[in-house]
Amino acid sequence: MFPNTHDLLGEINLLPDELIVGRVKAIKGLLIEASGLENNSSIGSRCRIRTTKENAKTGENNQIFAEVIGMHDRTTLLMPFGDVSGIGSGCEIQLVSADQTIYPNVSWLGRVVNAFGKPIDEKGPLSYGSQPYHLQNSPPPAHSRKRVGEKMNMGIRGINAFLSCCKGQRMGIFSGSGVGKSMMLAMITKFASADIKIIGLIGERGREVQEFIEDYLGPEGLSKSIVVVSTSDESAIMRRQAAYLTLTLCEYFRDLNMEVICMIDSVTRFAMAQRDIGLAAGEPPTTKGYTPTVFSELPKLLERAGPGTAEQGSITGLFSVLVEGDDHNEPIADAVRGILDGHIVLDRSIAGRGIYPAIDVLRSISRTMPRCNTAEENAVVNRARNLIATYSDMADLIRIGAYKRGSDPSVDEAIKYHNQLDEFISQDTADYETLESSYKKLAEVIDFVDNAKK
Ligand SMILES: Nc1ncnc2c1ncn2[C@@H]1O[C@H](COP(=O)(O)OP(=O)(O)OP(=O)(O)O)[C@@H](O)[C@H]1O
Ligand SMILES: [Mg+2]
Repeated sequence: MFPNTHDLLGEINLLPDELIVGRVKAIKGLLIEASGLENNSSIGSRCRIRTTKENAKTGENNQIFAEVIGMHDRTTLLMPFGDVSGIGSGCEIQLVSADQTIYPNVSWLGRVVNAFGKPIDEKGPLSYGSQPYHLQNSPPPAHSRKRVGEKMNMGIRGINAFLSCCKGQRMGIFSGSGVGKSMMLAMITKFASADIKIIGLIGERGREVQEFIEDYLGPEGLSKSIVVVSTSDESAIMRRQAAYLTLTLCEYFRDLNMEVICMIDSVTRFAMAQRDIGLAAGEPPTTKGYTPTVFSELPKLLERAGPGTAEQGSITGLFSVLVEGDDHNEPIADAVRGILDGHIVLDRSIAGRGIYPAIDVLRSISRTMPRCNTAEENAVVNRARNLIATYSDMADLIRIGAYKRGSDPSVDEAIKYHNQLDEFISQDTADYETLESSYKKLAEVIDFVDNAKK
């Protein structure tokens, strides 16, 4: 099923064709203006800048990679992947590649890589494949894509029962900071049933990376995964590229006809990176400073997940979205919600009651679920949702003691099942639940009797 794990052609492909050299004209914040590249470069071209700083080990001048992000008259605008210190006026710039391609390989499984696809796990160099994959690929044409497949077990009963996710579906996990997005993704990483898991940790904390790999993925999980890491201290262009690489690796395995889960923690950090790049390139800021390209790049990135064509596997996407200031209508949350096929909302007040994962069932939705469920499963879920909704409508009155038991039988019933439903959703990070047992447990919790079978 797999191509050769080591291919010399792949490595040769990485070498540049000819040497094009330009010079640094000016540096404005993180933006480098260059001359001499205008006829041979285009947006996305890669360059190498030779700095004035010497490397203490090799005695040679340090080199910094940069990407072309804009053009203005005969000036090329570059953004560096690293620190700009050591770059001065007149520094030499070499065009490295006209586009952004990588040559992924099956042997990358089990590895942790940076945004360039370079290993950062001290397990030695990676081998390259022979097939080029563009970092900013397009999804398959809409008319040739399969429909979403059967339901996928996520291992979390709150999701399995209320928000089940199908193969090739794209779901968002939305919450303010510290409500449990990363923890939920970690649980899904551990439990979900898929051939391959590609995890992009974008703009998150460096501390969490090791925790994630050792505590949640473990050696067995890691062997079927690739982790792409770009922490919050890395440059905007690195963080953006890490997101592109995550999707590119998913596409590679999808093309090998495998079921892939793609996780990005978080899409908001990708949007922020694109905002920083756009602002540096001179784009006008719109809502909350986000530039127009943020809203055109988001669908391009997220649409790449989803079902493949008939000969391909599918990419099931799980994307975390940090909702700034718990405002679920902020521009990124709003844009992402509109693109995806469902959203899982985690709520701070639910987490405050000690219920983890803090899924807000009423505000969450899986758009494909009703069509994938059996009639009985839908009936169980609808009844449970009704009970939660009825309680939620009356919650304030019940809490202050203004509701008198016996006034409304449906509210009495909702009160009766309230604690059991909370307990149903609570799940320890070490517990695992299958799809079947999730529905079964939910039916037991609400004493469900199937009227159709009576
Ligand atoms: N399933 C869970 N069980 C127990 N505690 C949890 C669970 N999920 C989250 N927590 C608690 O919430 C804290 C924050 O969780 P997490 O780091 O996943 O939040 P986050 O939404 O990713 O935050 P940020 O937006 O800042 O990255 C955890 O450190 C943990 O104490
Ligand atoms: Mg997090």
